[in-house]
Amino acid sequence: MKQSKNFYKSLMTVLLALALSLLALVFGVLLLGCGNGETKTGSGKTTESFTAFTKADAFNLRQVITADSTVSRTIMWQSEPETKDAFVEYRATKDENAAIQTQKEHINDKFTDNGKTTYVHTVILKNLKPGTEYEYRLGYGNRRSQWYRLNTAQVHNNYKALIFPDSQSAKYKVWEDVAMPAWQRNRDARFFITMGDLVDNGEHAYQWNEWFTRVGPMISRIPAAPVLGNHETYTMDWKVRVPQAYLHYFQLPEGAPEAYKNQFYSFDYGDVHYVVLNTQMREMKDFYPNLLQDQLAWFKADMEKTKKKWKVVLMHKDVLQYGFLTRKTPREEGFSEEGKTFMPLFDKYNVDVVLTAHLHTYRNRGHVYDFKRGMKGPLYILTGVAGDVRYPNLWKRHSLDVAIAPQPETNNYMVLEASADRLRFSCYLPDGTRIDEAEVKK
Ligand SMILES: [Fe+2]
Ligand SMILES: [Fe+2]
Repeated sequence: MKQSKNFYKSLMTVLLALALSLLALVFGVLLLGCGNGETKTGSGKTTESFTAFTKADAFNLRQVITADSTVSRTIMWQSEPETKDAFVEYRATKDENAAIQTQKEHINDKFTDNGKTTYVHTVILKNLKPGTEYEYRLGYGNRRSQWYRLNTAQVHNNYKALIFPDSQSAKYKVWEDVAMPAWQRNRDARFFITMGDLVDNGEHAYQWNEWFTRVGPMISRIPAAPVLGNHETYTMDWKVRVPQAYLHYFQLPEGAPEAYKNQFYSFDYGDVHYVVLNTQMREMKDFYPNLLQDQLAWFKADMEKTKKKWKVVLMHKDVLQYGFLTRKTPREEGFSEEGKTFMPLFDKYNVDVVLTAHLHTYRNRGHVYDFKRGMKGPLYILTGVAGDVRYPNLWKRHSLDVAIAPQPETNNYMVLEASADRLRFSCYLPDGTRIDEAEVKK
């Protein structure tokens, strides 16, 4: 009897051990399965386990410029499932003891184009330290993305930025082939400007996904400062609408009247104040009949407010009117409606540089003051083309043009180098050949 009792006791012990081992095994497998994403932080400081993001959880991740990049950064992305309570975790990379901080999402926006709905998440990181590198990752509940990096701006000028003209394309590989080598050659660029007509058709969700995906490594690392172009207002049947996709995809610095949110804005980087205009008065006249006068009032107030040493204007449509070289209808050179309206104001407020786009050609005009070539007045640069939509031999040379890209024109990008006493703008072909350079000093 005693023997049989001992036998049962041993059997129970063995069974219990087996059950515990099985439990440990199942738990281990589960843990491995769940932790298929990040088990380490970007710095490899601690080991954690989270469920990894799927592709549908986050795509089109982008950094977007804020009014003051020394202390803040906007992080945006899209998800297919309706995921609420998104957040971004972040910490300084150089601080071994830095605790991970969490910022909840600021906007959870649902947007539908071409019958496809995505959820657009916006998190604004605030109270960052100037001139500091951070790592950040996206999260929902117990799920986390991989780690990415960002750099805040230094207080004063000592930085590079990339400038990309119209990237609208039939095949966005061309956009990638201009932008990514430009970034590889300038990995120290702190942000990039995209001059409008980012996509050929602003309602076409596929084109937006292509636009973001093609430059994914860059736009998840440095912020974009976008400019609205006329193609952002086009519908699938080539009519016009409020540029909904653009306005939902970029949450831009506040300051413009609420009705014009994300259409025009300004931001500072180093000692430069950048003003980004919406030149789509013609396309948007039925939706915003007072766009010009409201924007002018905002522009004047914004110019009077800034204390920055430099002022740079970014606008999609160009200030000059070109004569046609190959079109049958003759047209004389002169100034565009946008030029006639804004150039006297640029003179009045001592704007240093005006960058434009829309004509898909690179032209450096030097300084223009009171509609004439001058020693003073802003430096005007028409920034070129960075996609596959080209207008070979369409425009005559304008008498204000100083330098033109080699003809027939291919693609180009520009690099801005901002230092204490100068802003230098260099124009490059995609292979890295420099074709022009212009600078302003003071
Ligand atoms: Fe364009
Ligand atoms: Fe355009």
